[in-house]
Parts: sequence; C-alpha cells; structure tokens
Amino acid sequence: MKIRKAVIPAAGFGTRVLPATKSMPKEMFPIIDKPTIQYVVEEAVNSGIEEILIVVSRGKEVISNHFDKSPELESILRKKNKLNLLEDIEYLSDRCNIFFCRQREAKGLGHAILCAKSFVGKEPFAVLYGDDVIISDIPVCKQLIDAFNKYNLGVVGAKEVDKDKIHKYGSLKVEHLEKNFFKCTDMVEKPTLDKIMSLYSILGRCILTPDIFDILEDTPPGVGGEIQLTDAMKYIARQKGMIMVDFEGKRYDMGNKLEIMKASVEIALTHPEIGNEFKNYLKDLDLSSDIL
Ligand code: UTP
Repeated sequence: MKIRKAVIPAAGFGTRVLPATKSMPKEMFPIIDKPTIQYVVEEAVNSGIEEILIVVSRGKEVISNHFDKSPELESILRKKNKLNLLEDIEYLSDRCNIFFCRQREAKGLGHAILCAKSFVGKEPFAVLYGDDVIISDIPVCKQLIDAFNKYNLGVVGAKEVDKDKIHKYGSLKVEHLEKNFFKCTDMVEKPTLDKIMSLYSILGRCILTPDIFDILEDTPPGVGGEIQLTDAMKYIARQKGMIMVDFEGKRYDMGNKLEIMKASVEIALTHPEIGNEFKNYLKDLDLSSDIL
C-alpha cells in the first residue's frame, strides 16, 4: 500500500531551549532563512507524501500561519517581479495538503501520535519529528518508505549514538539483514547501562502501521511520566519485528542548543547565496582571541 500520509508531532514544550521556546516553538527556529519544520515538511513532500498532519499545542499557531496562504505577500512579490521567492513560497502548497490538530496536553510523543488516529485511518503512515532536521541525498523518509515497500513491516530510522549519551535516547535490539537494513526485535527508551541492547537509537523518523493506535491506547505512561512511542513500538517489534534502517544523512536536533548551532554553521557553509562568504568569515575568525 502506497504511503501517502505523514504525521509531524510538534506539540512539545521544548524545555531544553528555554527561554526561546516560551513564545516561539522550536519547530519555527530558522536555519538560515527557513524554519525547522519547513525542512521537515519538504522532506516528506520530496518522499512522495501527499497529506500531512501537524500535531501542535496552544501557543503554536505561528506554525499554521506559516503554512497558510499569504495573498498580500504573494501579490507584492508578483508586482516586484521576485518570482523565485514566490515560487519558494508556493512550492509546498502546490504539492501537499497540510492539516493541523491539537494535542491538548503534552502527554508525550506516543500520545501526540495517538491524536492522529482519525487522520491516518487504516493506512501505514510516516512519522517525522518536527524538531529533527535531516540533510541527505535521498530524503530519509523516502529511504524508510523504500524499506517498508521491500519488507512490508514497520520501519525505524536509526543511527549509532555515543555510549555515554544513549541514556538520553533509546536502544534497539537488532540483527543485520543486508546493506543498511537490520531486523529490530526489541527496544527500550532511555536505557540504564545494564539495559543497553545496541548503540542504535531511533532518530526522528519511522513508518508505522495503523495497529499502533490500539497499542498506544493501552500504553501506560513510561519514562518521565509520558506516553512513550517506543513503549508501543516495542510490542510490534517483539511480535512481528520491525525493520531498522541505518539511514544516510546528517541529523540535527533543533531542541538541543549545540545542535542548533551546528545546523546553522554546517548548512550555512553549503548555502548557495552566503556559503563562500561565510566560509571566509570562519577562516578569518581568530579562535585564540580573548573576545572568543
Ligand atoms: P522531544 O522530546 O524532543 O520534545 O520530542 P520536547 O518534549 O518538546 O523536548 P524537551 O525535553 O521539553 O526539550 C520530539 C518531538 O515530539 C514532539 C515535540 O514537539 C518534538 O517535535 N512532542 C513531544 C509532542 O508533539 N508532544 C509531546 O507531548 C512531546
């Protein structure tokens, strides 16, 4: 069955980047000139997704405004003959339908996905975390969809993380299948040292089948008192297995201060308009200077 739908959870508080997130969702933090969530929506669209549900919360109306039509701005750009900018703005609205729903309480990622139940219906669907930007040659969501089409099982996108950081992520039990594909048969969220199954951790993307909703409805709050998506996926992994793709791509967690800086610097270096000038600026920086 073709994967046409994606869910983008974007209702978290973003406490790791307060005070910025008090009135500005982290999903709207710009990398150069584009908000984080637009990178995520573009990845979905470039992977063949046609319908997107963004799960938001109170105070995040700016996200729906961003994806709304802006007739005044569009007519000004047309009048000034700034057609490239106009094309950029119209690119997404011509290619997909974006819907919104509210997660009324931030009860965790699993609960945010449960809010998408009626939107998803009975189809398999993609999940892209709204604060995770992944830069890659082939969109990571597409890499996962290809794995789903090949194995007909739910898919998680993962990478190895440092042993001393894995307690902040999740850990997957995996066996190698071929190339960058693995079979995943168990998983644990935020493991203590003795519970680590491998250093592979889910990073921001997965393909789920609709049976996840019944499981989520029965999933009690886990780590941090939140309904964890990992706790629900664990049942599917144990029952029939999931596929883990060690994806090609560089991921930036825009809910983490250091990664926000890395994203801005690394993406700026490849930017067609400012890349060269920015590279020269960095070369000229005197890193030994007292001001730094
Ligand atoms: P995170 O755990 O990174 O987001 O969730 P958070 O809860 O905002 O982070 P901190 O710890 O407070 O800094 C990954 C994605 O899931 C969404 C977030 O918005 C983010 O895009 N999320 C998380 C929800 O939609 N609802 C929730 O209840 C929790």
